[in-house]
Amino acid sequence: MELTTKEEAILSGQQGEANQIAMALLVDIGEFFEADKLIPVSSAHISGVSYLTGGDGLIDQLNLFVEKEAKVAIPSTLNPCGMDRNNWEDFYIDLEFATKQFEILKYFEKMDVTTTCSCTPYDFGHILTKGQHVAWAESSAVTFANSYFGARTNKEDSLSVLSAAIIGKTPNFGFHLTQNRVPNVNVNVEATIEDYSDYSILGEIVGNHFKSKSFEFGAIPQIEGIHNPRPQDLKSLGAAFASFGTQLYHIKNITPEQELLSDLKLDDEIIVTNEMVSETYARLQPQQEIDLTVIGCPNANFEEIREVANLVRSKKLKPGKEFWVFANSAQRAIAKSAGFVDTILEAGGKMISDTCPEVMPYDKKRFPIVLTNSVKAQHYIAAPSLNGIPTYLLPLKQCVELMFE
Ligand code: F3S
Repeated sequence: MELTTKEEAILSGQQGEANQIAMALLVDIGEFFEADKLIPVSSAHISGVSYLTGGDGLIDQLNLFVEKEAKVAIPSTLNPCGMDRNNWEDFYIDLEFATKQFEILKYFEKMDVTTTCSCTPYDFGHILTKGQHVAWAESSAVTFANSYFGARTNKEDSLSVLSAAIIGKTPNFGFHLTQNRVPNVNVNVEATIEDYSDYSILGEIVGNHFKSKSFEFGAIPQIEGIHNPRPQDLKSLGAAFASFGTQLYHIKNITPEQELLSDLKLDDEIIVTNEMVSETYARLQPQQEIDLTVIGCPNANFEEIREVANLVRSKKLKPGKEFWVFANSAQRAIAKSAGFVDTILEAGGKMISDTCPEVMPYDKKRFPIVLTNSVKAQHYIAAPSLNGIPTYLLPLKQCVELMFE
């Protein structure tokens, strides 16, 4: 990989040790993936923030960067941390966990990272444009950035994205190059896909179908048969895809890179029928009594908060049940001003920000089973490496019917 004179100087340590470490990592990655050069990125979205997933190793790593006076060079936001910063006790988080989590956030602040703590940085007004290069690490946000905006990012990991944020550049490979953004599988949707969780189920069906196939940068579906999706529907689809490693999809006549689509029949194809959708819902529906429902994976925006509020209006949470809405804090503030947050609270639901249903620790004795409306949450809450709690899925309306009276 060719470096400019300035990049060589950073690599030799002339701009401090933190920059040198970050540059060395970017060069290693670039050489491994045969990138020709580093390219500037306009923002970074940093993952690896929760104490649940990072543990003390994350604290040590951040401490190292801070001791070496690392600062980010471009606007950089944070993925969810492990708790609601203002209200963690309400969600059964213990003091020890909270103390460690605050320590992690302090380190990021010292590096000038904006600690917005959400997986939907685009819902803070961080709008991308087609062709814009960024370095984002949250898988659902990566899929949304690539597919909905037509922006360009690889799925960074927590160290590569921190390095990209410090240097302001990333190696030029993968989804930064047009030739790697061309679809490689066909998805024909004959099923009726309307609800937010229908889109999640579509991602589950397609992801499962292609998961055993090998593609250099994952399956890149070219989808036909979807009409008038809302942004949150595409967010839902992308998050489900992301849990199978898909970081980019295209929808005929909808997503921005129509010039990459073709009428050619691709080697791999799936036709998604109503029967497949019904079978998948049936497989994921709750088998046991549910005490906790979590909504907001990816973090809910204004429209999603409004939808919940309209469903729970004039209802009351059943005794012994909990219903948590994980929301992007900026969108929550707007929804609060419109009265929707109070409607949810009055019905007995809880609003939670800064975190996500996957990276916060649950009191497993209190909540041995969880219900959600998102495939990604369903996969990851149940993952043994995270909370390992059996998790089921229903559309939002049915979740509300189950939990409220
Ligand atoms: Fe976001 Fe967490 Fe879901 S990061 S996409 S809410 S698993």
